[in-house]
Amino acid sequence: MITVNKLLQNQSSYIEDCWERIEGKLAVTIERIKDGMPHSTFDGVYDDWQDQKSWWTNTFWAGILWLLYRETKQEHYKEYAQSIEAKMDEVLYGYDKLHHDVGFMWLLSSVMNYELTGNEQSKQRAMLAANILSARANIAGGYIRAWNGDKEGWAIIDCMMNIPLLFWASKMSKDDRFKHIGIMHADKTMNHFVREDGSVHHIVSFDPSNGEVLDTPRGQGYDSGSSWSRGQSWAVYGFVQAYQWTGKQEYLHSAKRIAHYVLTCLSQTGYVPPCDYRQPAESSLLDSSAGAILACGLIEIAKSVPEAEKILYLQGAISILKALDTQCGVWDLSDEALLTNATSAYHPGAFKRAVIGNGALIYGDYYFVEAICKLKEMMK
Ligand code: GLY
Repeated sequence: MITVNKLLQNQSSYIEDCWERIEGKLAVTIERIKDGMPHSTFDGVYDDWQDQKSWWTNTFWAGILWLLYRETKQEHYKEYAQSIEAKMDEVLYGYDKLHHDVGFMWLLSSVMNYELTGNEQSKQRAMLAANILSARANIAGGYIRAWNGDKEGWAIIDCMMNIPLLFWASKMSKDDRFKHIGIMHADKTMNHFVREDGSVHHIVSFDPSNGEVLDTPRGQGYDSGSSWSRGQSWAVYGFVQAYQWTGKQEYLHSAKRIAHYVLTCLSQTGYVPPCDYRQPAESSLLDSSAGAILACGLIEIAKSVPEAEKILYLQGAISILKALDTQCGVWDLSDEALLTNATSAYHPGAFKRAVIGNGALIYGDYYFVEAICKLKEMMK
């Protein structure tokens, strides 16, 4: 069997080449987007959500800029990312429109800024976001509330990607209260979202007074009981991070179990995820963003398991990234997408700015860049 070092050695020229294409393309795209808040491409052009700053995806572009800054040290990447972060203050201090995705929003802006530059104001913003996320915990129910309005009992699998903000906040403050809330939510997710076969629900509706499961609504996948591919990816990447922050083995086991299920599904579909692993056979709807997120999670599993296990996850990640690159990668500089074939939701409903397999979603592009950066780091 091939070793991890040999695999990385064999892939090194591919990884370098892919990074050069990413960097070359983003250097052009940045000239237009600058410090904008793109969400999805339509006819090859990213839109801008600055008219709706509380939207959960509004700092993914800043995240891309921070990755580029980390790799190249070019100042304009940092300056644009910091400008986006400052613009988000109206949402952070406005409070009313905030939701559980404060994790995504301030991990990719303020935490990245603080980790790369030591900026104290960024640390304070991220700590405030962590306090807001903590306050969404329903202690009687044992979960973090996802959305606002009449959804008091709703928790969603995506939140596994928000709780790293709580673990980070505990490290910063040397105060385990944040971590306890993260663990409470991860335990609830492990016990009620992860099915025995390794697939996961998108949404679970709990009784807010006691945490009993009431329902598992459909969410962004094909149906209740189906298997929304991006949700499975959030779960893999979220659980492995929960393990890395807490050392709790059961989170790593959960990440592996979900990964085994997803890798088995993907081995049948050529490694680009469908929108839902249980969508009707006649549907050809894809979601490249699910693949990019999953690749990041698999790479982190590979880093977390003993030597003999690593290759399964790393090879899986590389197979996915190469399939995304060749089947969904857009390297024409006149189109701003990195990965097309992204899908917002199987049933987009009234969501007017949805992409249905025919454009890029900024988080798909972000995680593709992050995954290639992770592989570059592993090659060192
Ligand atoms: N967090 C919502 C989504 O993945 O579309």
